[in-house]
This record gives sequence, structure tokens and C-alpha cells, in this order.
Amino acid sequence: MMSIRTSFLICGALIGQAAFAATPAVDALTKPCAECHGVAGVSNVAKTPHLNGQLETYLEEDIAALAKGGRVSGIPNHVPLTWTGTEIAAVAKFYAASKAPRPVQDTDPQLVAKGQAIYEKHCAECHPDNGRQSDHDAPLMAGQNLEYIMEQTRLFVSGKRKFAFMMGDAFRGLSPADLDAAAHFFASQNQFKK
Ligand code: HEC
Ligand code: HEC
Repeated sequence: MMSIRTSFLICGALIGQAAFAATPAVDALTKPCAECHGVAGVSNVAKTPHLNGQLETYLEEDIAALAKGGRVSGIPNHVPLTWTGTEIAAVAKFYAASKAPRPVQDTDPQLVAKGQAIYEKHCAECHPDNGRQSDHDAPLMAGQNLEYIMEQTRLFVSGKRKFAFMMGDAFRGLSPADLDAAAHFFASQNQFKK
């Protein structure tokens, strides 16, 4: 018969293995995502958002919405419907923790200056510190892909993507050109430092 001590050892070895398996599972889950979002969440594909350093809670909600069709997407079967809550949470945590740098983008200095004024008046309340911080659960915007930001503002305006709490008020009175300028401002910012 197995001694109590031996069964403790076997049990300990199994727990150790399970803890060790956590990282490879995220690698396997994010492998198809890396094709567009990059291995560390820094995308090098046009119109594709960076996921690195994004708020974990925002990513978790967003990935679930993409899996269940709760958010409009140009990518068919974007996130597998089979992903469990635990898997979604692990992937969100992985991208949120990534500190890989985002590439510097070509932005128009005149639009950046115009966008800064619009940002300060209309966007800073929820996307503070030039988009490096968050209030009211808003996603971090600094250094995000320019074309992605522009496209999302259009989806919000057209109603295809649902405005978050009070963001509709912030957009009121702004023209498409004003929103493009705000996008240039966000895209021109370094994600991690001024
Ligand atoms: C074929 C390219 C492609 C693949 C593969 C892909 N994505 Fe995306 N992803 C996009 C594009 C493009 C967008 C921009 C909006 C849209 O069209 O859905 C996006 C948007 C997102 C967003 C929203 C980001 C934000 O700031 O709101 C999340 C989260 C996301 N993808 C997660 C994933 C995950 C997780 C996977 C892997 C299961 C994945 N994506 C696979 C191209 C891709
Ligand atoms: C009252 C708070 C609030 C204000 C003010 C606000 N936002 Fe937002 N914003 C949010 C929230 C919350 C979300 C997340 C929406 C969601 O979950 O779909 C968001 C999301 C976004 C996104 C999508 C980002 C992504 O990764 O997909 C863009 C683009 C955006 N905001 C631009 C702006 C611009 C431009 C302004 C100023 C004109 C602005 N926001 C003002 C709260 C706000």
C-alpha cells in the first residue's frame, strides 16, 4: 500500500505540473491572434488595434463580446465561441501585462494640435493623461493604431458600435474631421511615457 508520504509527494507533483501548464495554455490560445495582433499584442497589420498594456477588465469584456457577437467586427469567427470565462480572463491578463513598445506612427502635426484641443475639452475626463490612463472604465488610447481609432469613432457615430456610458455626450457637436483630429492626437502619444 502507498504510504501517506508517497501520496502527498505524487499529489504535490501533479499540482506543480498544473501550475506549470498555465503559461503554455495562453501561448496556444493566443497563437491564432498573433497573426494580426502580434505575439506580444503589438500589431503590425493595418487597421488592427494593439492589445498590449490595455486595461485587463476592458480586454476581458471585449474578448467576450467578440466571441459572443456582442461587438461588431470585420473578422469572421474573431474569437472562438468555445473559449471559457477562465480562458478569456487568462488571455486578457496576458495582453494587459505586455510592456512591448508600440511603433511610432505617422501623424499630421496640424491635426495633432487641433486634436489636442478637442481632446482636452471632450475626451480627457474618461481618457485622462493624454490617453495613458482610464476613468469610467474607458480603454487606454495612447499610441493606439490611428486607422483603428478613426474607424471605431465612425462605428460609434453610426450606431454600429454602442456608445459607452456618457460617451455619446462627448461626441455631440463634433464633426468627422474633429474626431479624426482627436484620433491623430491619441495615435501620436507614447503609450508609457510623455
Ligand atoms: C485576421 C486578423 C485578426 C485575428 C486573427 C484576430 N484579430 Fe482581433 N482584431 C482584428 C481587427 C482588424 C480588429 C479591429 C476591429 C474588428 O474589425 O474586429 C480587432 C479587434 C480586437 C479587439 C478589440 C480591441 C479594442 O481595443 O477594443 C480585441 C480585444 C481582439 N481583437 C482580440 C483578439 C483575440 C483574443 C484574437 C485571437 C483569438 C484575435 N483578436 C484574432 C484582427 C484580428
Ligand atoms: C464619459 C466617458 C467618456 C468620454 C468623455 C469619452 N470616452 Fe471614449 N470610451 C469610453 C468608454 C467607457 C469606452 C469603452 C467602450 C466600450 O466598452 O465599448 C470608450 C471607448 C472609446 C474608443 C474605442 C477604443 C477601442 O480600443 O476600441 C474610442 C476610439 C474612443 N473612446 C474615443 C473617444 C474620443 C475621441 C472622445 C472625445 C471626443 C472620447 N472617447 C470621450 C468613455 C468615454
